Amino acid sequence: MITVSAPGKLLLMGEHAVVYGRPCIVTAVNARLSVSVEKRRDSGVVIDAPQVSDTKFVSRAIETVRARWKEEVSGITVHTKSEFSSSFGFGSSAAVTVAMVFALREFLGKKGTPGEIFELSYKTTKEVQRGGSGFDVAAATWGGALYYKNEGEVVEPMAVPPPPIIIGYTGVKADTMTIVRDVGKKRDSEPQKVERIFDAIGKLVEEARMHMGEGDWERVGKLFDFNQEYLRDLGVSSEKLEALILAAKNAGAWGAKLSGAGGSDCMIAITPQDRRQAVEKAIVAAGGEVLRFSLNAEGVRRDA
Ligand code: MEV
Repeated sequence: MITVSAPGKLLLMGEHAVVYGRPCIVTAVNARLSVSVEKRRDSGVVIDAPQVSDTKFVSRAIETVRARWKEEVSGITVHTKSEFSSSFGFGSSAAVTVAMVFALREFLGKKGTPGEIFELSYKTTKEVQRGGSGFDVAAATWGGALYYKNEGEVVEPMAVPPPPIIIGYTGVKADTMTIVRDVGKKRDSEPQKVERIFDAIGKLVEEARMHMGEGDWERVGKLFDFNQEYLRDLGVSSEKLEALILAAKNAGAWGAKLSGAGGSDCMIAITPQDRRQAVEKAIVAAGGEVLRFSLNAEGVRRDA
């Protein structure tokens, strides 16, 4: 039996604009999704993936690996297990795909680079969901904090300490691909306005990258606020997200924004150490749930 795990992700800055070639900053979280591949006596392929919302990622990953190494991948039972709910928006589809591709490569006894795991996994997720920038696949592959751009053309590990972040979950799952498509429609109808927003978000990401390197979290918090304004202009925030963001800000956070596609899922607040408790309390009082995960987690790895 082979067991592999990949981390979930938290998008810090640059959502939506990253779909259109601008950069983003993402960090892997220490909540992992595991895949184990076990040999069967017969030649069937059995997938037992109770917590994965869509087993298409698993079956498509099998196809990808088959085609890449031109070898039959059968006679296996696949089990998946997740330390995080697929409704947080932590990228369970990307994590399960990366873990699956890595596990099957081990199963076939092949070697290769993380870059190849990324390429094969990104190809797989694109075939299943027709869209997505691939930043979540990169986070599951390499882990740590990454500066990411252009469908993986640029993937740079950032040697920064984990930001002082509080994660607030709205309690509602967002439909990422629908929101991505809605932003696409907005871009079709108002191309200049939306491209300007994407450019502005890209600039904020570049600036945040610099300040993160210096550990200037107060400034990064300000940039979160600016980023959130642009996300509002794109129409991807929600009442619930705004309530949690406002609560965090009023309780002393340096800055706060949604994380991921928007619509719902999670918000994140950069917070001075002495305001952490107050901000957490305020998020809960506003109806959110505080998720306690550490950041900069390790990328995909074989556990057994
Ligand atoms: C979703 O988590 C982030 C988006 O930028 C989509 C993507 O990059 O694939 C909205």
